[in-house]
Amino acid sequence: MIVNDIAFDELAYRRALGGFGTGVVLIAAHDALGRAHGVIVNSLTSVSLAPPVILWCLGGGCAAFEVFTSCRSFSVNILGAGDEALARQFSRRGERLLPADRLTEMQTGAPVLSGALASLDCRMRSRAQVGDHEVIYGDVAAFRAMGAGDALGYFRGGYVTLASGA
Ligand SMILES: Cc1cc2nc3c(=O)[nH]c(=O)nc-3n(C[C@H](O)[C@H](O)[C@H](O)COP(=O)(O)O)c2cc1C
Repeated sequence: MIVNDIAFDELAYRRALGGFGTGVVLIAAHDALGRAHGVIVNSLTSVSLAPPVILWCLGGGCAAFEVFTSCRSFSVNILGAGDEALARQFSRRGERLLPADRLTEMQTGAPVLSGALASLDCRMRSRAQVGDHEVIYGDVAAFRAMGAGDALGYFRGGYVTLASGA
């Protein structure tokens, strides 16, 4: 691949970025029919504390691209170490609908995952297309946190447990 006139080894680039260990979150949003879609991402960033604003990045090829770019609200759910199976399920290709028995709502009406380490209930703030991804900004309208428990992490292409060490 040639990027900015430089030969670019995409695999080596991905490997380099894989050294940046992250948490894992499930983003959830309703489609126009009221079905709850989920996608696993690790591109979450806290942008501003006052007001509370977060961003995450959505690949242009995502099957539910329209759902996540046209929704008015969505939730960000930080996964615990026990949620690896859920993470694998919601990063598979194709349509990924969340089961009603794991969902609740907070303030905006977006579907929120029960049992997550923490959940942020967000209103869509703005979007920006950058390369092959859409950067999605959310205003945090409400949040809740369990305050304890190991987190699910992603590091060098595999899931890991992020333990507090306390
Ligand atoms: C740990 C992990 C992190 C991911 N982070 C992102 C991300 O930040 N943005 C994104 O669009 N997809 C991300 N993905 C990929 C999506 O979960 C999903 O696999 C992708 O949307 C392909 O499925 P689809 O094209 O059928 O929607 C991640 C996957 C994994 C396993």
